[in-house]
Amino acid sequence: MKQSAKIIIDGKTFELPIITGSEGERVIDISRLRKDTGLVTLDPGFANTASCQSSITFMDGERGILRYRGIPVGQLAEHSTFVETAYLLINGELPTQKQLNRFSVMLNDHSVVHEDMRAFFENFPRWAHPMGILSSMVNALRAFYPEILERTEEEEINISVTRLLSKVRTMAAMSYKIFRGHKLVYPRHDLTYAANFLNMMFDSPVRPYVIDEHLVQALNVFWILHADHEQNCSTAAVRLVGSAKVNLYAAISAGICALWGSLHGGANQAVVEMLSQIHANGGDMAPFIARAKDKNDPFRLMGFGHRVYKSYDPRARIMKKMCDRVLDRVKGHDPLLDVAKRLEEVALKDPYFIDHHLYPNVDFYSGIVLRAMGIPLNMFTVMFAIGRLPGWISQWKESIEDPNWKIHRPRQIYTGPNERDYVPIQERD
Ligand code: SDX
Repeated sequence: MKQSAKIIIDGKTFELPIITGSEGERVIDISRLRKDTGLVTLDPGFANTASCQSSITFMDGERGILRYRGIPVGQLAEHSTFVETAYLLINGELPTQKQLNRFSVMLNDHSVVHEDMRAFFENFPRWAHPMGILSSMVNALRAFYPEILERTEEEEINISVTRLLSKVRTMAAMSYKIFRGHKLVYPRHDLTYAANFLNMMFDSPVRPYVIDEHLVQALNVFWILHADHEQNCSTAAVRLVGSAKVNLYAAISAGICALWGSLHGGANQAVVEMLSQIHANGGDMAPFIARAKDKNDPFRLMGFGHRVYKSYDPRARIMKKMCDRVLDRVKGHDPLLDVAKRLEEVALKDPYFIDHHLYPNVDFYSGIVLRAMGIPLNMFTVMFAIGRLPGWISQWKESIEDPNWKIHRPRQIYTGPNERDYVPIQERD
């Protein structure tokens, strides 16, 4: 039975259709609102606004549910690999063995980066943040890999998607090696996606990197947990920039820039910086909690809170367990994990955090895992970006394939000065 919402404006009643999603969520479709009523809606930060209909990821913030194409993220973390999960997000179904083999061969074939790009990496200032380098280099891919007009649009998209998924990992490792002044390590055909990344990061002529399958598995889980998250800030940026019909690389470069923010993907780096400060403060976390609760202080408890999850982020739960497993494997102990666990315990008993429904999110423990793997602090958000790439790509593909494609152009409510005349400079006081 069709449902609708009624609004009354100046005594006139307008009906707006209600759409129900496959998980029973209901939205009011306001796509005709301005045409019918002359009014638009105002929703700063879009907390109450759905920008699209999507079949990729389902989240339930109250129940702490996260599913990619209907499969719970916990099952994928336990049984899948990042490459298989990327295939699922982008194509909508888990691959057959034949499809997975073909996808892996294509990722391998596209894993090296154009040698002329190396000059770009080598000429960034040594102190450049890897997220700024990554967004620039992803955008530069179009210059090095121009569109081949003889290809069909589908072929062009598939090649661009595979090229990006594979090269982003190589570019991240390249920026690290060049920053350290170390010899570049090329991808190897005999290593899996995650193992290749670790090898490109840590192999050296004097100390060959020994692949540890436990760390490879942990990195797969890390990237699976980050792979998509419906219409988060960076995905919304990819869809918005993509809506103007730019190439995939430009849209993804915009997503990388949005993810860089400390309120978004940059939080994993900010969490470890905060935990380190607490640790340096003798473990005294009271000043940090007091600042987080102080309305006049812009400080936020990093790694806590979420626009959608008003319960424990299911990814944080898995990441927290992974900390112990990875630490046992590499160095046994990280004092920051003790600080993190204590901070969580104190915060979750504090009425402020309870009343505001503030729980650890994916970024709260992820940095501990990355530290244990030896990933440098300034590359934490790059690791998030590599994980989120299949999500951004799948959302971009879904938007360009949408028969109702429209350029994203929000409206506003004007609150500036009413009409007034130009005043010549000599008459201004
Ligand atoms: C990610 O959207 C996604 O899905 C993102 C992500 C993904 O996978 O793509 O999940 C990844 O970005 C996770 C979030 C990482 N960011 C952080 O950990 C930074 C710290 N968190 C906050 O800045 C905040 O919680 C946000 C940005 C995550 C969410 O902010 P909202 O939804 O805009 O909420 P808000 O800022 O309006 O806060 C609502 C209230 C406020 O108090 P009141 O004015 O209502 O009294 O909650 C308070 C805030 O002061 N609050 C916090 C807090 N987060 C919210 N107070 C202290 N510490 C915090 N962390």
